[in-house]
Parts: sequence; structure tokens; C-alpha cells
Amino acid sequence: MNPCVKLVGSFDELVSTPFSGAVNALCWPRTLSGNFDEIAAIVGPLDEITTVDDESLLELPLSSAGRIARDILLADQKLLRDAGLDPSLDLIPAYPREAAPGPVPIDVYDFHADSANTLADTFLCSYTVASSEGVANDESIRRIDIPETRAELLRIYGGADDAGFAAWISAHCYDLHYAARPGAHIYSFGFGNLWRIATQCPGSPVPPCVHRAPATKPGQPPRLLLIS
Ligand SMILES: [Fe+2]
Repeated sequence: MNPCVKLVGSFDELVSTPFSGAVNALCWPRTLSGNFDEIAAIVGPLDEITTVDDESLLELPLSSAGRIARDILLADQKLLRDAGLDPSLDLIPAYPREAAPGPVPIDVYDFHADSANTLADTFLCSYTVASSEGVANDESIRRIDIPETRAELLRIYGGADDAGFAAWISAHCYDLHYAARPGAHIYSFGFGNLWRIATQCPGSPVPPCVHRAPATKPGQPPRLLLIS
């Protein structure tokens, strides 16, 4: 197991376990029953990310296996809401990819850290098609710290490597994107497991969890993802 990841045995533990040391990702492993693919299939092909609310879920004409999956989706969101969070259940056909990435690709298929203005974590669970992936902090590097990339950014910025450059980098979110080092062990978040990962935010006791959305192939059904 990756040193950044700690397994927990319950939702309460997932919410209450502090991040510390190398650990910036908590995973509550679960094996879920029910047919989640049926829910994605019944909504049909999508052109853009679509949030599925509880009412729409309840209206879907589902088989008994689909109803089991629906009950889990409703229960997972209730767990998060009861913990004071604001979850969203999304069907994701494919995230938009940058047409012409600059020196730092900044889409979610690229390794990145989530960021927040206050102390906050990201909760997520993949149910279908493909799951999020992570990499340890010591097996990744911020792209702005790669000398060639930094030099190219400086050239585009057209100034000195000073506080103004740092502010410009931050304004473009370039500081949130990472490259896996050669030989890095990329880990999968898996299906059904509920994760809590650290973001880049003020007061965080640990570096942020470096992760990415999985690549999906054209023609695949949308991914069903719970995120908060
Ligand atoms: Fe993210």
C-alpha cells in the first residue's frame, strides 16, 4: 500500500481521522452490491457532466439490482450531508481536454492537487467505468519545479522569477499540477471505496493528495462519481 494512503473501517473513522505524516489520503474500502452501470445506462448518452439529484434517481425505472445501487447512492449522499458536506453525484461522459496545452497541462486528467481557500478536504467515490488515480508526493513533482517547464513559464511571463511571477503562476493554477516521476507507483482509487483526500489549503497539516481523473475511451458510458 502506498505510504500516503491509510485504510479506515467506517465512515466515522473516514471523517474523523486526522491527516498526519505522509498520510494525505484516507480510504474506506467497500465492496458494493447492486448494478451501478444500469443507472448510467438508463440516463443515456451525455455530452456534458450531468448532476443527478435524489428526485431524478428515485424516478428511474430500475431492476432490483439497479434499485440496490440507487439505495446505496442515496445513502452515501446522506452520510456526507449528515457530516455537513455538500455532495454531488455526477455522470461524467469525458472531461473537456485542453485543445492546446501550454507548458503545464491543467485539466483533471493531469496529476493535480485540489485547492481550497479554507481548511477543506475532497471526498470522492467512483462507482462505474473507471476510477480516479493517485501518486505519492515523493514520487511526483510540481511541474513548476521542473527546470525546463519553469524556464518556459518565465519566458511566457516575460519577467523575473519573483513574487509577481509566483502570483502569476498561482493565478493560472500552474502550481497545482504535477508530473509523476519515472517509475512512480500510480495507485487506483478503485470502485465503491469512499475516499477523503487532502487539498492544498491554508492550515493543512500535510501536503495535498496528488491525483487525476482516469482516461476514458470514446463510446464508454459515463462515469458515475460522487464528489464533495
Ligand atoms: Fe481533483
